[in-house]
Amino acid sequence: EKAGYKHFMAKEIAEQPIVLADAIKHYCRGRQINVPDELDFSTLDRLTLVACGTANYACLTAKYWFESLAGLPCEVDIASEFRYREPPMPENSYAIFVSQSGETADTLAALRYAKEKVAKIVSIVNVPTSSIARESDVALPILAGVEVGVASTKAFTCQLSVLLLLALKAGHDRGRIDDKTLADHLKTFATLPGLMNQTLSREASIAVMAAAVAEAQDVLFLGRGAMFPLALEGALKLKEISYIHAEGYASGELKHGPIALIDKNVPVVVLAPRDALFDKTVSNMQEVMARHGKVILITDPKGAEEAGLGTWKTLTLPEIPAIFAPILYALPAQLLAYHAAVAKGTDVDQPRNLAKSVTVE
Ligand code: M6R
Repeated sequence: EKAGYKHFMAKEIAEQPIVLADAIKHYCRGRQINVPDELDFSTLDRLTLVACGTANYACLTAKYWFESLAGLPCEVDIASEFRYREPPMPENSYAIFVSQSGETADTLAALRYAKEKVAKIVSIVNVPTSSIARESDVALPILAGVEVGVASTKAFTCQLSVLLLLALKAGHDRGRIDDKTLADHLKTFATLPGLMNQTLSREASIAVMAAAVAEAQDVLFLGRGAMFPLALEGALKLKEISYIHAEGYASGELKHGPIALIDKNVPVVVLAPRDALFDKTVSNMQEVMARHGKVILITDPKGAEEAGLGTWKTLTLPEIPAIFAPILYALPAQLLAYHAAVAKGTDVDQPRNLAKSVTVE
């Protein structure tokens, strides 16, 4: 069943271009986004997004999209906090629950809390027959296929893709994105599987970086804007399967504490496409280099040209419009964790102490 791969995780990372192409086929019909008509974001006051673990990081990324593309205020919380916090929820809002398994106990409890309080309960799930899907008004499948590895990979990029499509729809519904711009975004979406393939072809150089990461005790991941949640996800992936201590930070937070950790033994992974915030991230990166931190810069050709000098390693990914970058940049973060774990010889698909689906709180 591993189709020649050493681990399910490797197979699932490699499958991403194919499953994403399936999801695009399902959700993009010509110039339209194909979701049930009852989903209408035009006059909503707010969105609330709730999930656990990796799915929560997909929600955090989506906050950047819903706010910037649709001007829709968006609250994100982890389910175990949300369910007990007694959060007020405006009636004229949707609550969106994201879960690969659809059976995560805290996320299901959070969904039950939100019922009757909001206009619609929406879920984004990989298992359409799951409890979370069944208890929602609208369940949107991510179409990732079965995910076996405990570390979520293809489900994450499919969750991100469905969330980005919803944010584009919200932007269109709310008059912020016109027909032509929407059509252009959908065209770019269709190029993503190809760009993912190009990114996966860099696996050998990522494995070299990972072999060095495997020797570290602590690793930091930095990103700004929508790359910040990806920094959190990169750190989670590395912790889960390689047991290396890793933290994700918003680059701008570096000076507020974590820079104290930097020395020559600390690899710092900087996720920085050449976007509007690039220069700010680069100046944070230079502060790390001045303290002899080992920078792994993940960027695009322009970013590598402008800032690649003096890093420990630079990985160059294909150029992509900024809103799509978190989906593409997830792949090297996954591969870095995977190869670090392989180098350490840990049980990649069944890491210690973890279960695929957390059905008790
Ligand atoms: O099935 P769910 O998406 O609800 O699971 C949520 C988390 O338990 C899950 O994402 C977990 O953090 C993964 N092990 C991450 O790789």
